[in-house]
Amino acid sequence: MELLHDPAAAQAWCEDARSRGHDLGFVPTMGALHEGHLSLIRRSAQENARTVVSVFVNPLQFDEAADFESYPQDLDKDASLAGDAGADLVFSGRLDQFFEGELNAAGELPTEHLRNPGPAALGLEGEHRQGHFAGVATIVARLFRFAAPSRAYFGAKDYQQSLVVRSCCDDKGRPDVIICPTLRESSGLAMSSRNKRLNGAEREHALHLVVALRAAHAAWEAGARDAAELEGVLAASLAPAVDTGEIELEYAAIRDPEQWSATRPDGRLTSAVALLAARVGTVRLIDNARLDQVPFGVGGVL
Ligand code: PAJ
Repeated sequence: MELLHDPAAAQAWCEDARSRGHDLGFVPTMGALHEGHLSLIRRSAQENARTVVSVFVNPLQFDEAADFESYPQDLDKDASLAGDAGADLVFSGRLDQFFEGELNAAGELPTEHLRNPGPAALGLEGEHRQGHFAGVATIVARLFRFAAPSRAYFGAKDYQQSLVVRSCCDDKGRPDVIICPTLRESSGLAMSSRNKRLNGAEREHALHLVVALRAAHAAWEAGARDAAELEGVLAASLAPAVDTGEIELEYAAIRDPEQWSATRPDGRLTSAVALLAARVGTVRLIDNARLDQVPFGVGGVL
């Protein structure tokens, strides 16, 4: 396993692998790797001759300075975990290396260099985290350009992001974007690098999100097909935790996964995803579940 600290060197490594006829699978991350990330790396290693992982805490996508500054970073540990999971190359870099010659005197990327993240960025995360998806789309498109993979792997955990990144493919639709299931702890809590910042009580409180997703899934199974009704089920499930202050809810929403809309879809749904965002203590958590599919996350029961 190779570790490179320079995206241009990683680009050359990828070009060389491609020239030898190797299919490249790519897993972009911000590090602090956990089983959720590793499941993407393992899947890529199964499906591609070579697997490339990027580790870059992308400042363009953080809307809160404190969140960026407290983001856990340990590249050597991440590289070792990624290698054990089947990565052949792990690369990182600095913002000025990813955007060579494009940063202004303050070391920032001018806003006109940001990519338009498209319609999937409207509403929910896009509304609550201004600029977040433009930052994601900008780095993902740039990472795709450096690695030029055949396939790229993302987690359903970041549901709206998984829709946004499709807009980062080139005009021939490359790479293939493959969305992998959310890995959960045995409690049902979706794995996240931010879980490390939860104390014991907060970990318990975070489970209210899982309970609400289960309630919405049960309502779907019982025949509910109206988004307002399903949002009512989420809200009712979360209300006691909101009232006691155990969680601070940002949104609890239903969308049609086949047709993203900024606002709640009208009419009878044939497919649905429930999406939640809440603060537990100082930690902002997101989670989601498809209601029209089997309600199991890998690793733990939803
Ligand atoms: P990061 O949060 O590090 O996540 C990297 C990838 O791991 C994303 O595709 C994310 O959806 C996936 N992932 C996270 N938790 C998961 C879980 N519990 N189960 C399955 N997959 C999971 O998402 C980002 O980084 C960044 O926005 C990035 C795409 C790298 C752009 O900077």
